[in-house]
Amino acid sequence: MNALVLGAGGREHAIACTLAESGEIDRVYWMPGNGGAVIHPQLTNVPLLHGDDLVRFARDRTVALTVVGPEQSMADGIVNRFNAASLRIFGFPRRSAQLEWSKVFARQFAARHDIPVPQTHVFHDYDRALSYLAKREGESFFIKADELCAGKGALFAPDRASGQRALELLFHRRVCGEGKQVLIEEAIAGEEVSLMAITDAGSHQIFPLVRDYKRLHDGDLGPNTGGMGAYAPVTLPQELIDRIVDRIVEPTFAGMIEEGLDGAGVVYFGVMVDRDGDPHLLEYNMRFGDPETQALLPLLASDLYQLLSCACSGELERAELSWHNDATVCVVATTAGYPLDYGGETFPITGLDGPFEDGVAVFHAATQYQNGKWFGRGGRIFAVTARKETLCQAREAAYRTIERMNFAGIHYRREIAG
Ligand code: GLY
Repeated sequence: MNALVLGAGGREHAIACTLAESGEIDRVYWMPGNGGAVIHPQLTNVPLLHGDDLVRFARDRTVALTVVGPEQSMADGIVNRFNAASLRIFGFPRRSAQLEWSKVFARQFAARHDIPVPQTHVFHDYDRALSYLAKREGESFFIKADELCAGKGALFAPDRASGQRALELLFHRRVCGEGKQVLIEEAIAGEEVSLMAITDAGSHQIFPLVRDYKRLHDGDLGPNTGGMGAYAPVTLPQELIDRIVDRIVEPTFAGMIEEGLDGAGVVYFGVMVDRDGDPHLLEYNMRFGDPETQALLPLLASDLYQLLSCACSGELERAELSWHNDATVCVVATTAGYPLDYGGETFPITGLDGPFEDGVAVFHAATQYQNGKWFGRGGRIFAVTARKETLCQAREAAYRTIERMNFAGIHYRREIAG
């Protein structure tokens, strides 16, 4: 049987490699994929196809399951298209994916279902937003675009000047979509965790908690990025996990059923636990997280193909879901200008050829393999994940491995899981 993975990043490399480990899968087509495909004999990159051509490809290659990585593909309606063609696909239809592609819709949904979120105001013009900031002088905010922005649409505004800059970027320079609606959200201090759960629109199962590191630099400094690293599992007191599940996760799935937001996929809850221990929903992502997936999937003991297939058939309740009793640490390597400048030139990378020590995997993002050599292109280049018995061992192995890799301007955080 064959599978198809849509997307080009480290998350999709982790999904494709894990699917390939299923005894039921002969080949994983990866569209468009990246250089990382060459390290797994069952992975084949396929040039990007759209619309009917993509559906035809899945049918012609007898693809038994397609897995959608990026949010944009769901927002563009790829799942609707596959459903209409009676092809099995893991990911949400456009209407359900709105919980991610419109932050205003997500806030309205949370209000309808009594889900706690940071205090948020939506503005349709720059001047009103600016005068709101002036009235709240001295407070910190996140200023967010309504639309998708590749994980970079939340601008931290610890003072009025940075708030004004953020509003200019979103309303006037339209760096994220059309700039028609902008959210100003109170910044809550506390501990942030990522909770992912799989659903088949009737039932759901929760994955181990993961922590990702969004800021570019150590000490949680610098701009927000798509993610600089992650570790799993995050151990929180059971009472706190229960509170997150009771107040956020269960009402979300109940609300989705009530509103007919159907589909089989992963819902990612970005949660901030404040200093009083109260959880607040920061965002929904209607997909696997990146780089959380690179930290999570190496812990999966069950067969990913069977799990996702059960979800697509509405039989998640009978799926087996078990995890290795280990810990993972994932460290992401980026180019120097990321996240502002992705650069254009390709550059050589050294140290990417394995074999690596036991439990270590490299998930590629912006790499190419040509004539026996590795090259990078800009942005997040690859992630090293180590799975060991303890978090400390995993951390040491991840850093031991990434320190042997190099390219001009390589940047990675030194204190993931530290
Ligand atoms: N790591 C955050 C995300 O996947 O959007």
